[in-house]
Order: sequence, then structure tokens, then C-alpha cells
Amino acid sequence: MARSVLRTKFISHGTLGSKDLEATRRFYEEFLGLEVVRTSPVSLMIRLGGNHVYAVVYTKKKERMPRVYHNGLDVDTDADVDEAWRACHSQAAQWGLHDIDKPSARHGTYSFLFWDADDNAWEILSNPKGGYTWIFEQGDLEGRGHFERGFRHKRPDAKKETA
Ligand SMILES: [Fe+2]
Repeated sequence: MARSVLRTKFISHGTLGSKDLEATRRFYEEFLGLEVVRTSPVSLMIRLGGNHVYAVVYTKKKERMPRVYHNGLDVDTDADVDEAWRACHSQAAQWGLHDIDKPSARHGTYSFLFWDADDNAWEILSNPKGGYTWIFEQGDLEGRGHFERGFRHKRPDAKKETA
């Protein structure tokens, strides 16, 4: 890789907005299964499965997160995706979940999206350990890239599942 202008080392964090940090914390811990710490009266920090974190910042006026900016949470299997989808539906009223998509096969995985009470968008997807590393390590893709038919067969756990 050509030397870059900035000598960066690590993507440490992204940010998310919350309209009610206590309610958001309960949702993250009890429903999504994230690790949460309180970092100030107006912020939380969350992580799951690695060292990358999100700073969650209190925001009174928060807009709906556009679909294209969603955040993905991995589960092991397609059956786990279906189970998560059922849980989203059965507990939608309790947590303020809305616009819950149907699970479907897409670009090498199987997933659905939904929006939470803060209007943040989440995707629950099946992925091998290491998340999208299996795609990244293929380097630049030709043609339709990860939208190519049958792309999922390149997944390290492809033999275990049929999609
Ligand atoms: Fe996604």
C-alpha cells in the first residue's frame, strides 16, 4: 500500500446517538447483548467481540439513521438470525423497535434490519468468527463483487450451511 498522508494505526471508535442513555443502556445490555460502560453524564461506550468501540452520545433531537449507515451485529447461523427476528417482533413494544425487515440472503450472508427506540438501524447477520474479514481478505473484487451469485460459497463456514 502506498504511504498515506496521515500515520493512522487503528479505527478506535464510531459514534451513535441516544435520546435516553439509561433506556439505551438497558436495551444494549439486555436485548442486544453488548458490553456497556458509562463514560460521562452524557455518554456511554459500547463494544462487542473486539477492541473497536462506539461512543454513545446523548442527543435530544435525533434523526432516523438512514438504512445505508446501519451497524451489523453477527450471530453464528442463519437459524440464529431467524431466532433474533422472532425476538425483535415479540419484544418490539417493550424496546420500541420498528421497521423490522424480513430476513433474507444477501451478499454472502443472511440478515435483516430493524430500527430501535433511538432510530438507530441495526442489522443482525450470520457470519463466521471474525465477521467480514473473510470478504476483506479477498481483496478488490471484480464484476459484481460480493453481490455475485453464489458468493457465500467462499465463506470459510460455507460447507455447514446451504444458502
Ligand atoms: Fe450490512
